[in-house]
Amino acid sequence: MYYPEETIEEVRERNDIVDVISGYVKLQKKGSNYFGLCPFHNEKSPSFSVSPQKQMYYCFGCGAGGNVITFVMEYENYSFQEALKMLADRAGVKLPEAEYSKEERDRADKRSALLEVNKLAANYFYYQLRQPQGKAGYEYFRRRELTEETIRRFGLGYANKTSDDLYRYLKSKGYQDGLLKESGLVTLEERGSYDKFWNRVMFPIMDPNSRVIGFGGRVMGDGEPKYLNSPETLIFDKGRNLYGLNYARTSREKSLLVCEGYMDVIAMHQAGFTNAVASLGTALTSRHAALLKRYTEQVILTYDSDGAGVKAALRAIPILREAGVSARVLDLRPYKDPDEFIKNKGKDEFKKRVDGARNSFLFEIDVLRRDYQTEDPEQKTRFIHAAAGKLLVFEEAMERDSYIQAVAREQMLPYEDLRRLVNRLGNMPQTGQAARGRQGADGRDREKKEKDDGNRRAQRLLLTWLIEQPQLFAKVRDIIGEEDFVEPLYRRVAEMVFDGLRRGDVNPAEILNHFINDEEEYKEVAALFHARLEEALGNEEQKKAFPDIVYRVKKNSLDYASRNASDIGELQRIIREQAGLRKLLATID
Ligand code: GTP
Ligand code: MN
Repeated sequence: MYYPEETIEEVRERNDIVDVISGYVKLQKKGSNYFGLCPFHNEKSPSFSVSPQKQMYYCFGCGAGGNVITFVMEYENYSFQEALKMLADRAGVKLPEAEYSKEERDRADKRSALLEVNKLAANYFYYQLRQPQGKAGYEYFRRRELTEETIRRFGLGYANKTSDDLYRYLKSKGYQDGLLKESGLVTLEERGSYDKFWNRVMFPIMDPNSRVIGFGGRVMGDGEPKYLNSPETLIFDKGRNLYGLNYARTSREKSLLVCEGYMDVIAMHQAGFTNAVASLGTALTSRHAALLKRYTEQVILTYDSDGAGVKAALRAIPILREAGVSARVLDLRPYKDPDEFIKNKGKDEFKKRVDGARNSFLFEIDVLRRDYQTEDPEQKTRFIHAAAGKLLVFEEAMERDSYIQAVAREQMLPYEDLRRLVNRLGNMPQTGQAARGRQGADGRDREKKEKDDGNRRAQRLLLTWLIEQPQLFAKVRDIIGEEDFVEPLYRRVAEMVFDGLRRGDVNPAEILNHFINDEEEYKEVAALFHARLEEALGNEEQKKAFPDIVYRVKKNSLDYASRNASDIGELQRIIREQAGLRKLLATID
């Protein structure tokens, strides 16, 4: 990159956020804010808000938030530069030549060259499929019941039997060996250069913006390996992409279907289930889950019905749960995968299976049961204990109880007995911890983590409140300063917020610009500028909470300082401050 900060600020200021977002989302004014249906997740009632004062947006449903630049980045899936360019054009701001460092320039150049090469290769394979030499490929796809339209939509192609014709084609376009090697499409050896893919049908892999970033190639018939995939490159990161997402992201279904294979995605799309995606020949990772979370709250797992598929589902469920995505599991039996199911039973039957997909926890219990011969009383008891142990993952009483009821009903166990057993296990320190331990640390770590979370939350709330209600600053300015925000990210925000508060002008959208290069950071910072509903100020409870939150932030900061104090004098000063803290707080009404 980088454009000078003034330029970025100018582009941001000249693009009113309400104007820009109105071009994408129908907005309605309510009080001082505008509301609409969130474009980043599916919803029926509007929880997406845009604030003209703050020049920011925030979704109370999915937590998406940011300023006008991040909106365009997220909505259009643009990089920062692309979004900035679009907004500059829109407002008639002339961008200066970007100040790239040499490495950045090289990297950007290489990325675009690799994208060009992949695009050329995709066109080449696509073209070959329709030539006489591609007949075998075309017939293969038709045998698998793909329509001409599907073949076109997914850009399917064919790699010839000759071992270097793609290489020669790309060379004729002027690309150098080094770059071609990096694209993963060719291998360079002393004896010559070879195409990685030959005599295979080809599936171009696209990013969410429909740019080709790599390929999967399948043998037509039996042979090893069945599928060959491009290696990871500068532009192809398997953990960050899902096959089919470029179409699924616009399907506006309330969930996404996640399956194992390219052919499954394509078969589902062809049958009208355009919300299907697949991970690229790898198991689902937490990065996939985070990616899915950007588009949906709920995933329906349509993995193969064999043992490997069940195992993959059992692995994926907690990963999704952790990312805040709920999962359901679709039963494909007696067929192997979605492709075969749809071929044999058709799309209406498939739709029924989608609607009947199983709650993921109850699916886990079903699978657990398969390990026990429950006609045998002893094994049945063991099964019940195991199920009760699993029920401990639900920490919230009502939720736990509904699951106890469901398990009791479905597995024909007496509800009262199961409930007592679960609660007994929950009260035994070891089992309670063991069950929860799966989600993290042991007892002591857990306590520490809770305390850390509490301290983080206090810092976050205080910042949010000060931004929402700058008049609160007068009450705390003698007690709290930016240095009391111990959490590094909050400290950086606090520095800018306190600067603004002292000047009498806090500018959230400008502050957010400083975090724009790190997606995780900007999301977290954006959330700071929007009190969640339950955290909004104004009611009595909040008023009471304010001094406690100030106390907690200050106390944590002093504790932290005392741990790091370098001499006795400093320590004594900190201790005095700690002692006087309660009294000081009494001055806040
Ligand atoms: P079809 O036989 O064409 O219907 O494929 P499938 O999707 O039913 O095949 P399978 O369940 O065997 O594989 C699912 C996915 O795993 C594929 O889409 C590939 O992404 C990946 N995969 C399968 N076989 C291989 C292989 O031999 N090597 C690699 N790297 N990936 C494979
Ligand atoms: Mn298959």
